[in-house]
Amino acid sequence: MSHSQPEILVLPDRAALARLAAARFVSLAQNALRVDAKFSVALSGGSTPRDLYALLATHEFSSRVDWSQTHLFWSDERAVPPDNPDSNFKMANDTLISHVPIPPENVHRIHAEIAPDAAAAEYEAALGQFFSSSRKAGEPRSRVGADRTARSDWTPRFDLILLGLGPDAHTASLFPHTPALRETSHCVTAQYVEKLNTHRITFTPRLINAAGSIFFLVAGVDKADAVRAVLFGKYSPEDFPAQLVQPIQGKLTWLLDQAASSESPSNN
Ligand code: 6PG
Repeated sequence: MSHSQPEILVLPDRAALARLAAARFVSLAQNALRVDAKFSVALSGGSTPRDLYALLATHEFSSRVDWSQTHLFWSDERAVPPDNPDSNFKMANDTLISHVPIPPENVHRIHAEIAPDAAAAEYEAALGQFFSSSRKAGEPRSRVGADRTARSDWTPRFDLILLGLGPDAHTASLFPHTPALRETSHCVTAQYVEKLNTHRITFTPRLINAAGSIFFLVAGVDKADAVRAVLFGKYSPEDFPAQLVQPIQGKLTWLLDQAASSESPSNN
């Protein structure tokens, strides 16, 4: 499996990081819609992407996105209802979705208010339905059925997946030494995260690595050690799960602020 080198971009601060991410989001959306009738994006949770989502909601950027053909998903979710302050859906809805003319049917929320395993299975089936309806000719046909991605070697291909990075080098809800790191049959899984004493629903490495583009958005000095370990340390994905992000054919871009990249040379 060949993996090209990631693009590493170091920006002066969070605001500059958000602006570049917004510009790249718009460019990917416009390019995707030249090829297909939909732009599929998986949003990240946490706090870092808030500035990006707020920028995308401004006229400067929102007016350049065809929201009628943009479909929003989540790369992970906390096992809470959508109105819970911890909900990744709530954060994106408050900062972006409620401010742009995106049709409700284009917002594909993880139903994290139901049992985590059921929420993961339901989301995986929903991905299979959504992406199989737009699969290009010639791609291997998946078998029909709710767990189509689980039973076939076909994996949905997002145009863009946004990811964050925790100080422990987790990404999405792929935490160190957890079963989801080793999940290869499914594209979405649920797991109990002992260190957080909570359940999470998450994309698996298989689904993430099938994407056309992946952006890591990482800011803050508290992430510098994790960035250095993931990008320049020994390959040890059980300890540094973000090392599992190696797109098969897609492009991987790290968007870092100076604080998070304090000791990481950039190649931009
Ligand atoms: C989540 C995210 C998680 C996040 C990192 C970084 O659900 O919290 O998916 O992977 O991206 O923990 O979070 P911050 O952006 O808040 O530092």
